[in-house]
Amino acid sequence: MSALLDEIFDVAGSVVLVTGAGSGIGRTIAETLAACGATVIGADRDEDRLGEIKDTQGVEPVHLDVADAGAVDNVVNSIVENHGRLDVVFANAGIARGGGLTTPQGTIDAFDLTAWHELLDVNVHGVVHTVRAAARPMKRQASGSIVVTASTAGLRADPLVSYSYVVAKAGVVNLVRQAALDLARWQVRVNAIAPGPFKTNIGGGGPIDPAVEARWGSTVALGRMGETRELRGLALLLASNASSFMTGCVYPVDGGALLQSLSLDPAE
Ligand SMILES: NC(=O)c1ccc[n+]([C@@H]2O[C@H](COP(=O)([O-])OP(=O)(O)OC[C@H]3O[C@@H](n4cnc5c(N)ncnc54)[C@H](O)[C@@H]3O)[C@@H](O)[C@H]2O)c1
Repeated sequence: MSALLDEIFDVAGSVVLVTGAGSGIGRTIAETLAACGATVIGADRDEDRLGEIKDTQGVEPVHLDVADAGAVDNVVNSIVENHGRLDVVFANAGIARGGGLTTPQGTIDAFDLTAWHELLDVNVHGVVHTVRAAARPMKRQASGSIVVTASTAGLRADPLVSYSYVVAKAGVVNLVRQAALDLARWQVRVNAIAPGPFKTNIGGGGPIDPAVEARWGSTVALGRMGETRELRGLALLLASNASSFMTGCVYPVDGGALLQSLSLDPAE
């Protein structure tokens, strides 16, 4: 890198926690920052996926269920114990579950309380626990960057995802703003990435059905789903000094999905 690029985007030596690092967006973020010289702690609740990242240079895999507040605290405490600091946290772990308010047949959906809680436990409470745990060392350091993976589904209604998913993602969007306000006096920044549809394992894993891919692609102005590598630039920006005057904001990376008006027919 040139000296100027270094000055702007350098993350070498930064200590970074990425949750949901075993797959998809989190894995790409963890691998990218590690390749740029950061020490990355890649947390996931899936042991097999942790096994897949264990040989990645610069990434330390750690087992973590972000829905467990005590476990999140323990992971953050041990990072600070082992590395002396925590510079950047990506609160990224998330799941997709549950149905809509109505079924495709037009009846009101039977409310699956278990799926509702399961999703909110990870996608809202997991983020709450992660942000709170990160805030302690960052406050002591008087520096830090927290990045939450929200979604375009948190910025508008979306007929292609579940009721609980849009509620959760809208919740974390305002959590980011509130936490940014709270933590600004210690120079701790909090922002969100709002991806549009990306090819990851969130739909269950395995090769994506071409019809499903085409349907998602049709919701995006650029006409296709995103590849996780297309999030690397924003991840590096938010992890580095390049974003030193950015806080409380939500950054869509969505191929223009937010420009489109979505079909109301989920079966289409
Ligand atoms: N893929 C998309 O189109 C898309 C769009 C917008 C937002 N997002 C968000 O991006 C984030 C990452 O999703 P992805 O698409 O990469 O999915 P993914 O399924 O490929 O990866 C998510 C990872 O999180 C892990 N995880 C799930 N629950 C966890 C928990 N309780 N504790 C720790 N780890 C847990 C999974 O094991 C998995 O490795 C999620 O917050 C998701 O809501 C995804």
